[in-house]
Amino acid sequence: MPEKILTNEDLSRIVDTSDEWITTRTGIKERRVAAKGEDTSDMATEAALKALEQAKISAKEINLILVATATPDMLFPATACFVQKKIGATNAACLDISAACAGFLFGIEIAQQFITSHTHDTVLVIGADKLTSITNWTDRNTCVLFGDGAGAAILGHRGSAHGVISTHIGSDGQFSDILFMPGGGSRCPITRDNVDLNLATIHMTGKEVYKQAVTAMVSASQKVLADAGLTADDIACVIPHQANLRIIEGIADRLQIPLERFYVNLDKYGNTSAAAVAIALDEANRSGRIKHGDYVLLVVFGGGLTWASTIVEW
Ligand code: UT7
Repeated sequence: MPEKILTNEDLSRIVDTSDEWITTRTGIKERRVAAKGEDTSDMATEAALKALEQAKISAKEINLILVATATPDMLFPATACFVQKKIGATNAACLDISAACAGFLFGIEIAQQFITSHTHDTVLVIGADKLTSITNWTDRNTCVLFGDGAGAAILGHRGSAHGVISTHIGSDGQFSDILFMPGGGSRCPITRDNVDLNLATIHMTGKEVYKQAVTAMVSASQKVLADAGLTADDIACVIPHQANLRIIEGIADRLQIPLERFYVNLDKYGNTSAAAVAIALDEANRSGRIKHGDYVLLVVFGGGLTWASTIVEW
């Protein structure tokens, strides 16, 4: 996580909002903001190095790097290539995944496919986003929601039964216009004339996104539970996308899993997009919240629309 903290109080001095509104509507109290010159690949690199240390392997053993991000350092080359250079993973192929907030779990599914087909056996999956670089700081509907950060995981063959046991990814392009960034791509390059229109920032229809998020994350969770032959009672910890506490409460209610079994850290970080579940998984692991043998359900949702779910036997 970047060091700089931006609190709700700080935001209330930038736009017409309040700590009370942000807390009651979202659960967010503060978020992190990358420093000038701290790029998505820098946060991704920090996360990758911590994952390598924990996995006790060298960067040279990685043969595929997947970076899920909506805020790549540049449109090309892939941010994964910058990470490769920074960590010295000279034996890796590199690519970025564009699945917005759902990208990290898309990465887990892609990694799993490469691993089970024996194409690449040691895969570094990173979720990294610097959403503050595409935030419209005059739009109170969106600017209070997002923060920056990165998380990483290394996947490989396991001798035991433990590991990723069920995955699901899905999309619905019909809703591509409720959460998007209209400018900056080939359809609408940023020009001298349109630079004041805030086109290269997040545009969102919040209420519709909210509704779709609950529906998609509930059905994605039910799908991986059924595929794994498990029920909600078997899940020791749910790690949901960290967008809004009310969305998480809605999922908990519909899945009939007590809220206490959900890992929530959005109060500290806001919505860090593709990084959110990766950061939460790491915190839950390092704090002992998830233990060897636990079934962990990860479930995410993002622009596209995209959604994904994974069950891991830890
Ligand atoms: O990774 C996925 C990313 N996106 C999401 O997850 C977003 C999902 N949606 C949400 O989380 C919620 O819809 C929001 C938090 C964005 C908004 O909450 P809401 O309960 O749906 O509020 P609303 O949009 O219906 O707005 C209610 C009122 C409006 O005022 P009026 O029209 O009732 O007078 C807004 O203008 O709240 C106003 N408002 C604010 N007031 C103070 C909107 N943003 C703010 C703000 N501070 N920051």
